[in-house]
Amino acid sequence: MTVESSHETDVIVAAQSGPLSGEVVVPGAKNSVLKLMAATLLADGQYVLTNAPVIDDVVIMADLLTAVGLSIHTEPAPAGETGQHLIIRNSGNITPVAPFELADRIRASVNLVGPLLGRFGEIDIALPGGDDFGGRPIDMHLRGLEAMGAVFDVTADGIVGRCSQLQGADIEFDFPSVGATENIVMAAVLAHGVTTLRNAAREPEIVDLCSMLKKMGARIEGIGSSTLVITGVLPSSLQAVTHEVVTDRVQSATYIAAVAMCGGTVRVARAVSEHMGMMLSRFTDMGISFHIDTDGITATAPERLHSIDVATLPYPGVATDYKPLIVAMLSVADGVGIVTENLYPGRFRYVEELRKLGADITIDGHHAVVRGVEHLHGATVVAPDIRAGAALVVAGLAAPGITEIGDVFHIDRGYDDIVGRLASLGASISRIRQ
Ligand code: EPU
Repeated sequence: MTVESSHETDVIVAAQSGPLSGEVVVPGAKNSVLKLMAATLLADGQYVLTNAPVIDDVVIMADLLTAVGLSIHTEPAPAGETGQHLIIRNSGNITPVAPFELADRIRASVNLVGPLLGRFGEIDIALPGGDDFGGRPIDMHLRGLEAMGAVFDVTADGIVGRCSQLQGADIEFDFPSVGATENIVMAAVLAHGVTTLRNAAREPEIVDLCSMLKKMGARIEGIGSSTLVITGVLPSSLQAVTHEVVTDRVQSATYIAAVAMCGGTVRVARAVSEHMGMMLSRFTDMGISFHIDTDGITATAPERLHSIDVATLPYPGVATDYKPLIVAMLSVADGVGIVTENLYPGRFRYVEELRKLGADITIDGHHAVVRGVEHLHGATVVAPDIRAGAALVVAGLAAPGITEIGDVFHIDRGYDDIVGRLASLGASISRIRQ
């Protein structure tokens, strides 16, 4: 596969829009599909991942997994579905050496460590890449795997890990890391004995991964809680499966943020309200009203958003990935809001770009103080990462004048046709290939 949609020089051009109306259908989550793809290393056979988003990180992960020995192709989703189907064949002929230039491009490459060590007892991979929010260590991944019997040699560039048969262990995390939870669970599926993982992360994407692993034949208890108990099984007990990727809650929130800032009423089809509970409650505090039905969320914008204070936390708290959207919304809200970042102290780089649009934001350590202004104004900005890029797109739609967003390849990593989806709601937005 190759990354075809992304051209380094593409720009998104957004003009003031609204009120928005209609329905947008949200596909599966980036932060689930990449881990489900890694999980296919655990057992031979043919997997089908449905509702997979059409995004560049899937292409990079597919290339990475192809390089270690899987064969992967995509098929368009049949009528009535969204996203695409990923067909992944594992013939068991795996070389546990991941090409550095691919692993270096996405954070989820670290998710190969657990399954490759668990099944093949070996891994040689670059330190994971991904968005630059300051330091993103993987010490908890490695300590957990070491407790199960793995030995690592970590250099400035990469990780070489070895083990014979991994052994179940009692592991307690200092912090509920998403990636470390996923790696330990995938390693424990084929370990000898029982692994108990305490203070585990419990994001909906982790529940999705555990559900697919269970369908494959893994024995996991406590799914959705912060204590996971995994009883290792024999490789012959696992089988390939078909699995539907859970809906992307951050893409869902993006379309809610768009209607909130531009006005109108929009139905976000397939959005799962249970996965967004805290965020929807804070959006309600900002004045957005919601109607929840069995397969979606309808959001109606207030006359003007109200300011609130928000702190990011692991699930079920307000996710750090929503934060750029929240800061963009607060920048036109009535009053002053303080946003506290508790996961990535360095995740405020986009603030400079929002200021170019007229936002009044001051950074103080890991707090952003956002003083709402009546109107933003169009400007030329660049997307510093996936979520910040989407927030700039949404802010551009609320700003009188024209906003040009560059470096859209960041947005392509995690958003499935954001331009087409927003245009279908009546937004004045286009993508220009330069
Ligand atoms: N951390 C450590 N040591 C570790 C692991 C994590 O100190 O061994 C720290 C990190 O430095 C960070 C915090 O813990 O400060 C959170 O890290 P976590 O492991 O929970 O996150 P991740 O697995 O690296 C995933 C998502 C991120 C999302 C975070 C938090 C993927 C591919 N990435 O990252 O998504 O922000 O969880 O929810 O699943 C995005 O999609 O734009 C994105 C950045």
